[in-house]
Amino acid sequence: DVIDARGLIALPGFVDLHTHLREPGREDTETIETGSAAAALGGYTAVFAMANTDPIADNPVVVEHVWRRGREVALVDVHPIGAVTVGLKGERLAELGAMARSNANVRIFSDDGMCVADPLIMRRALEYSRGLDVLIAQHAEEPRLTVGAQAHEGETAARLGLAGWPAAAEESIVARDCLLAGHVGARLHVCHVSTAGTADVLRWAKARGTQVSAEVTPHHLLLDDDRLNTYDPVNKVNPPLRAISDTKSLREALAEGVIDCVATDHAPHAPQDKDCEWSAARPGMLGLQTALSVVIQTMVQGGLLDWRGVARVMSERPAEIAGLPDHGRPIAVGEPANLVLVDPKATWTVNGAELASLASNTPYEGMELPGVIKATLLRGKVTARDGKAAR
Ligand code: DOR
Ligand code: ZN
Ligand code: ZN
Repeated sequence: DVIDARGLIALPGFVDLHTHLREPGREDTETIETGSAAAALGGYTAVFAMANTDPIADNPVVVEHVWRRGREVALVDVHPIGAVTVGLKGERLAELGAMARSNANVRIFSDDGMCVADPLIMRRALEYSRGLDVLIAQHAEEPRLTVGAQAHEGETAARLGLAGWPAAAEESIVARDCLLAGHVGARLHVCHVSTAGTADVLRWAKARGTQVSAEVTPHHLLLDDDRLNTYDPVNKVNPPLRAISDTKSLREALAEGVIDCVATDHAPHAPQDKDCEWSAARPGMLGLQTALSVVIQTMVQGGLLDWRGVARVMSERPAEIAGLPDHGRPIAVGEPANLVLVDPKATWTVNGAELASLASNTPYEGMELPGVIKATLLRGKVTARDGKAAR
């Protein structure tokens, strides 16, 4: 079977450090199978599945289920993320070692959707992460500053009567954890950076030698809080869509390397959790199948990244951060490839109902986006081709 790659761009298979696959617990919105298909169609060869499932991935049984199911589906390497703390409230540290040493070989732990506000728990997690050689990924929200928050604090939220989510809720905890990581000598990864001020904190922390990495979502690169005027909850997400000045700063920080990579925060939700009042809606947006196109539109067409840069932020850096030696690098002759082939000139129109995800909560509905993925290969096997996943 020959793929005609004339006119196409070959990139190393993408690595998503932040995907919500909803299994176990909310298989009505996404399963490891449907999410893996979306990932393959989006050019991904490895995804890290976030820990806020039901039950939460705070023990070896849950992470091993996610790992095993991912291997069975075999469309993308699914790496489970473990929860930093036990249960939703995050009162005590989970047994990180048991998950790290399980068959799932967990290498990232996060508080995404759970929020470790307690500095002592975070400090201990960072301390243990050194010995276990795992990474702590911080959800970047000080929850005591976001009680009731519904949208980015500022003019738009005030005009619409929505309670504000201050930039300081993100910047203060990122600064805190950069300092804690620096003192402990541990690595820290910052999830979904959304403000200009957080980019400044990261610039400062990196300049002083802190081992910190960070991700930005496609939606925070493209969309701003100007979209909230319709009250359509498809635009509700945590952290919220920010001011257009933040969007611009995030693009620059990604180009500069202050923000290391793009991660989707792919967050499928059921129709009833989105077709409702703003305040009742769940936060989150789909991202796997649209990520590359949004990066092309914002970063490549914006003149901030070339294709080499796209490979860096979508594949090389996330593979390095997560410690995946077989991802994110050029392939040697004869080596089975983790690869994606992209038609850079073609465009497509987003239709939520046609996406491989079980959910359809895309904020890009009806938009014409640049860049069409022609094929994705995982260790030399085609996992997606011409818009169809290989199963
Ligand atoms: O928008 C979000 N959705 N942000 C999160 O932190 C969690 C996620 C989800 O699980 O839906
Ligand atoms: Zn989060
Ligand atoms: Zn998330």
